[in-house]
Amino acid sequence: MPAEIRRAHRADIDALVELENAAFSGDRLSRRSLHTLTGRRSAIVLVAVEETRIIGYALVLLRRLSRKARLYSIAVAPMATGRGVAGRLLETVEREALARGCGLMRLEVREDNSGAIALYEKSGYRCFGRRKNYYHDGMHALRYEKRLQSDASCRTHRDAAGC
Ligand SMILES: CC(C)(COP(=O)(O)OP(=O)(O)OC[C@H]1O[C@@H](n2cnc3c(N)ncnc32)[C@H](O)[C@@H]1OP(=O)(O)O)[C@@H](O)C(=O)NCCC(=O)NCCS
Repeated sequence: MPAEIRRAHRADIDALVELENAAFSGDRLSRRSLHTLTGRRSAIVLVAVEETRIIGYALVLLRRLSRKARLYSIAVAPMATGRGVAGRLLETVEREALARGCGLMRLEVREDNSGAIALYEKSGYRCFGRRKNYYHDGMHALRYEKRLQSDASCRTHRDAAGC
C-alpha cells in the first residue's frame, strides 16, 4: 500500500522531530518551529503515513499577496527512501500551493545534496541562482524554482542564473 499523504496535526510533532533528526545532520528545524508552523495558515505541512507511522513530510511557506511559495523542508525517513515518497509529497504540496493561488514554487538546496537535487530536477525544477555560505557549515545553496502553471504572468528570469 502506498503511503497516505495528509495534513500534519500538532499531535504529529514528536514524530516530525524524530524524522527531522533522522534525516538531517544539521540545520534542523526546531520542535518549536515545527509546532508553530503546523497549523499556521501561511504554511502547508503534509505528512506521508505508512501503517500509522510518519515516514516523510513536506513544508511549504506562503506569503500574503504573493504568488511565490517556498518549499522550506522535505524529508523522508532513511528506511523509507527510494520508494517515491518524496516525489509524491512534492506533487501534493505543489497542488495545494497552486490551489492557494501560487504559480511558482522556489527552494534552496545544499550544493552537495545530490539526492535532493536529482529529486528536484526530475520533478521539473530548474536552477536559477546560488547563495554563498548559506548553511551553518558554510556550504552554498542552489536556488531552484518550478512554475506550477503555464501562466505568462509568473514568467521569471532564469537567464541570470549562473548555474
Ligand atoms: C532527498 C529525499 C527527500 C528523497 O526522498 P525519496 O523518498 O527517497 O525520493 P523519491 O524516492 O521520491 O525519489 C524521486 C526521484 O528523486 C531522485 N532521487 C532521490 N533520492 C536520490 C538519491 N539519493 N540519489 C539519486 N537520485 C535520487 C531520483 O531521480 C528519484 O527517482 P527514481 O527513483 O525513479 O530514480 C530523502 O533522501 C531525504 O529525506 N534526504 C534527507 C533530507 C534532505 O536532504 N531533504 C532535502 C533538503 S533540500
